[in-house]
Amino acid sequence: MCGITGYTGVNQAGPILLDGLKRLEYRGYDSAGIAVRGDDGIKMLKATGKVSHLVEKYNETPDFLGVCGIGHTRWATHGIPNDTNAHPHLSADGKFAVVHNGIIENFAEIRSELQKYGIEFKSETDTEVIVQLLAYNYNGNFKLALMKTIARLEGSYAIGVISADHPGTIYAAKLSSPLIIGLGIGENFFASDITALVNNTKNVIDMDDGEVAEITPDGVKFFDHAGREINKDIRHITWDVAAAEKSGYEHFMLKEIMEQPQALKATIEPRVKDAEEIVLEELKNLDMKRFNRIHITACGSAYHAGCVGRGILEALCRVPVEAEVASELRYRDPIMDAKTLVIVISQSGETADTIAAMKECRSKGATLLAIVNVVGSSIAKLADYCLYTWAGPEIAVATTKGYTTQVVLLAMFAVWAAGEMKTISRGAYISLVKDIIRLPERAQRALDLNSRVKTMAERYNSNSSLFFIGRNMDYAVALEGSLKLKEISYIHSEAYAAGELKHGTIALIEPGRLVVALCCYEKLLDKTISNIQQVKARGARVLAVAHEGNRSIFREADDVLTVPVTDPLLVPVIEIIPLQLFAYYVAKLNGCDIDKPKNLAKSVTVE
Ligand code: G6P
Repeated sequence: MCGITGYTGVNQAGPILLDGLKRLEYRGYDSAGIAVRGDDGIKMLKATGKVSHLVEKYNETPDFLGVCGIGHTRWATHGIPNDTNAHPHLSADGKFAVVHNGIIENFAEIRSELQKYGIEFKSETDTEVIVQLLAYNYNGNFKLALMKTIARLEGSYAIGVISADHPGTIYAAKLSSPLIIGLGIGENFFASDITALVNNTKNVIDMDDGEVAEITPDGVKFFDHAGREINKDIRHITWDVAAAEKSGYEHFMLKEIMEQPQALKATIEPRVKDAEEIVLEELKNLDMKRFNRIHITACGSAYHAGCVGRGILEALCRVPVEAEVASELRYRDPIMDAKTLVIVISQSGETADTIAAMKECRSKGATLLAIVNVVGSSIAKLADYCLYTWAGPEIAVATTKGYTTQVVLLAMFAVWAAGEMKTISRGAYISLVKDIIRLPERAQRALDLNSRVKTMAERYNSNSSLFFIGRNMDYAVALEGSLKLKEISYIHSEAYAAGELKHGTIALIEPGRLVVALCCYEKLLDKTISNIQQVKARGARVLAVAHEGNRSIFREADDVLTVPVTDPLLVPVIEIIPLQLFAYYVAKLNGCDIDKPKNLAKSVTVE
């Protein structure tokens, strides 16, 4: 969702801000804007739609000059997407401009108060109150006015503000919305997301809730909520620009699908000792024997990874495990206590519903373990324990390597936990570790299906509605395969537990309807095959995904994609790969905007 960035230095801010905004596009947005402190005050440019429209406007405005500025991509919450509601917002006196991520919950109250003083509002946004209140509080001291302003704000914000009176200075502040400072030489930056900064600097500082940063070309000072100066640690980013760029692929999604062997390696290798021991340094103080139940919560694909995790954890640890979407759990008054471990899963680490569910679980005394990709994100910080997937930046809205690395990390955690709880034999433990180590190579072999999957997509892309069926682990994969297809190709599909089809949904099976049958969980293969026969008898076409060497499936299905054999509990990591490619090629054939599907956002920071 919304992205913000800012620059102060000696170079023209415009191109730097526009480059940052392009890198933030993947988060999802519907308008964009920039503001700079020029020679004669603050100048602004805004555009509805893509950042490319804003670039066109910038190119047509040669006097848009200034070496200090802020930029924003907006995903509309309060007010329709148009140029007036797009950020930055300017105070009525023209002295301040602000960009904001998050939601100001008490904006209506502040706005009516300011309106009583005769201040006129231009937009319908919650954000405009920040800049109007700031101008109202200002009496020559920028920092003081900002501190006074943010003390009034309720809700969530990451903001960047420039002032006509203070050339070269930006103030940034945060509460429950991510904000990072980038350090350069003679220039400094801020952004909501590292991807906006990675072209300019590798040295960053993560801001914490309640903090304020004073950013000038010569340095950055940090203050706590009371205005006292504080010291902050610098973090060095290890990934390079290429990791956040397409590296020759047509789409980020395809690049990220193809990167899965390396991403899985990055998740697995540092955590395996002597090819037989799982070492989770981050959890050395976590006593698994304390827990008598586990809850897993997350949203979207991360929830689907959680559905896989539930199966693995129950199978290995023999404790009851529940998996539930965070938007439900947060309002369900769940039954949990100090003996409950809650595992939260999130690629971005910023999903609002997941954060709210964590807070609810914490209030009940549960221990929170997060599985997160983005280092230093809100969820990582809020949790008691955190395991990073280390998958590298994921830019495409539809997650791929984010999901597979979450699944493998859940599997590693389950094996480790079973070892701690003594619910697994040494032989089974070592055998699973060996299978985990081989996942990157097997993922690579699954990727070799690329051209065959493309052919399947060409064969089946005209289906307007289809089903994904499977049992146990295969069902968990069906959920994710179906979501992938829906979100990027806009084709309706449904995931069904294969055995449940006959209880109603089979009525929708008609001649030519495509059913994707997942057949890698071999313990229940016979059962799935009879479900295939049931849909075939009603005229369905069946595309099966099965293990290499499975001959029987060729007699049953119209087409088969075979993937390398792996342990039944690890099946999802490999089996999802052809389904990711299938969704990708179907979406491509249908001319969809694959990396930025309509109505979706990468990081969903609102409820
Ligand atoms: C959005 C994304 C999904 C993602 C979900 C959870 O809906 O489009 O791809 O699975 O949020 O995001 P998280 O960052 O918490 O994994």
